[in-house]
Amino acid sequence: MAKILSVSGSPSATSRTARLLRHLDDRLRQHGHDVTPLDVRTLPADALFGADFGHPAVVEATALFGDADGVVIGTPVYKAAYSGLLKTLLDLLPQYALTGKTVLPLAPGGSTAHVLAIDYALRPVLSSMGAAHIVPGWFTLDKDITTGDDGTLAVAPGTAEALAHVTDTFSRVLGGRTAVLAATG
Ligand SMILES: Cc1cc2nc3c(=O)[nH]c(=O)nc-3n(C[C@H](O)[C@H](O)[C@H](O)COP(=O)(O)O)c2cc1C
Repeated sequence: MAKILSVSGSPSATSRTARLLRHLDDRLRQHGHDVTPLDVRTLPADALFGADFGHPAVVEATALFGDADGVVIGTPVYKAAYSGLLKTLLDLLPQYALTGKTVLPLAPGGSTAHVLAIDYALRPVLSSMGAAHIVPGWFTLDKDITTGDDGTLAVAPGTAEALAHVTDTFSRVLGGRTAVLAATG
């Protein structure tokens, strides 16, 4: 079992990114992982925008990153990159906050023009923070993520399979790394 922090960087109160991550959190729990959700939009804006490194909410978020073996980073594609909200939190973390961690990047967006945003925009930031292994992520068209009348999340066929595949790959890589680290101390 690994500890996973699942971070949504959308500022939207009705975020598809957050709903998608919470849906995938359940899949990761079924694989036996201990998953903690973190919605950056719930952190105090004054701390994020005032670079308040010592704010208790920032200290707590930093500790969650420190405790995690793996991190899911979800962000809507904004202006061909990731959200500014996600960056406000990443900027408050230690430079190498992702050292030794396995990371799964996920990004819903509105246009296939930006299907590579994870690779050219997000991945370099995660690498610069020391991520040990950034597994293949997935860009999801927003229209493929909908909510049914009963409030349940519906993901379009094809997209659902692709997301399950990258999530299961993340789980497998993470499980392997955690077992090796436990064996070698
Ligand atoms: C301010 C803003 C900028 C956006 N810029 C892009 C963009 O450059 N490329 C793109 O594919 N989608 C863009 N979108 C669409 C969102 O990425 C897409 O709707 C996503 O699903 C929103 O996720 P959320 O519901 O979690 O906030 C933008 C949306 C907003 C609100």
